[in-house]
Amino acid sequence: LSAPSGLCGLSDSTLPLLLEGYAWLPDRRRRNGGAPVRTRLLGKPAIALHGRDAVRFFYDESHIHRRDALPGPVLDTLFGRGAVHTLDGEQHRVRKALFVHLLKDRESITDLTERAAAEWERARADWSGRSQVVLFDAFALLLARTVCEWAGIALDDAEARETADDLVAMVDGFATPGPRHWRARRARRRQEERLARRIEDIRRTGPTEHAAPTGAALAEVARHHEADGSPLDAHTAAVEILNVIRPTVAVAWFLTYAAHALHRWPEHRAPLAKGDSTYARAFAHEVRRFYPFVPFLGGLAARDLDWQGETVDAGTMVLLDVYGYLHDPELWPRPYTFDPTRFTDAEPGRDDLIPQGGGEVSGGHRCPGEDIVLALLQTLVPLLARLEYRVPEQDLSIPLHRVPSKVGEGFVVTDVH
Ligand code: HEM
Repeated sequence: LSAPSGLCGLSDSTLPLLLEGYAWLPDRRRRNGGAPVRTRLLGKPAIALHGRDAVRFFYDESHIHRRDALPGPVLDTLFGRGAVHTLDGEQHRVRKALFVHLLKDRESITDLTERAAAEWERARADWSGRSQVVLFDAFALLLARTVCEWAGIALDDAEARETADDLVAMVDGFATPGPRHWRARRARRRQEERLARRIEDIRRTGPTEHAAPTGAALAEVARHHEADGSPLDAHTAAVEILNVIRPTVAVAWFLTYAAHALHRWPEHRAPLAKGDSTYARAFAHEVRRFYPFVPFLGGLAARDLDWQGETVDAGTMVLLDVYGYLHDPELWPRPYTFDPTRFTDAEPGRDDLIPQGGGEVSGGHRCPGEDIVLALLQTLVPLLARLEYRVPEQDLSIPLHRVPSKVGEGFVVTDVH
């Protein structure tokens, strides 16, 4: 297959990217002898950077802007129009403060993980009565119930299943042009409409203990004000509520990867099962490093820039290699060995472990949900390590051309108790 030719003699890489997924950028970089990759994506000139200095360069706000950086198909599935991901400067700072307030508070994180552990107990009783359980689906449902209740979004059983399916679909379909993509668009439209109605209801009646407890994410987003003092319109408020609940449900990917790691390397089960909390945190870091989730990040050069002697014209799409960096042997010796002990003696450096972005959380675009992801993994992976189940014969491969990738058909287990 050959990609359509672009301007300036650079061929457009959109098609190879869609076909090769996680392997596309590391392969291009290798063929380039490690030099920054210049190409075109969706017809626009692009340069891909790699390494610790590149992380610092990328997260310097005066270098990279996010406005207009993300293509429509990604906004209409994964993030939503008007999302915090697409803001710069003061507008970004004020919106980001809402997420930091909601997602970095210790007590609130403990509340979330306690709810998740209680949901696990409830789900476990259900799993043990079933002939088989698809772990990915079970984790997504458990997380959807947990995070929606925590965020003040009351759901009955049928709504919880549908919400879990929609939130998974939005993540699953953002990087493919096929049926998964159209499912993702429908899922986003449906959930945005529902949540916008809930926001309007709360604003009409005021938050109540029943509809959306004061302090819960739904009520806080409903009363948030923008940098210019105006409240968020109901649609944008729905987009941002989804930017809390969708990625929390996406932790199902990491939990299923954790199940994969426990199956391939069962020696990790014992320290986790006996409650070694340092090991649980190290294991969570290694799952985030080892398994494919985010291939790269992108923004637009805010002005003409110089990257280690390379000219980057204003408006060029700048990509930060994430998957390749997390498997770079210079930073991670034996990168394709799953080894939590990389993290047992010390926490990773700010710009080394970047599966959820680099730089600072408050000033930049680094993920504000990192503490939540770690806390959920540290709570639920030890419960998984203690769970007894059989793993029947099945395909457990993790295809690198699929973004986001997935373990086989979701990792089927039987005889759970
Ligand atoms: C941003 C990854 C979980 C909320 C990001 C970014 C990445 C990321 C790579 C973008 C960084 C950038 O653009 O520079 C992940 C992964 C997760 C996860 C792999 C695992 C499932 C969460 C959770 C939440 C969350 C649980 C909320 C509860 C956000 C928000 C942003 C963000 C609101 C936008 C931040 C900004 O633009 O300033 N995440 N995240 N994420 N994440 Fe996460």
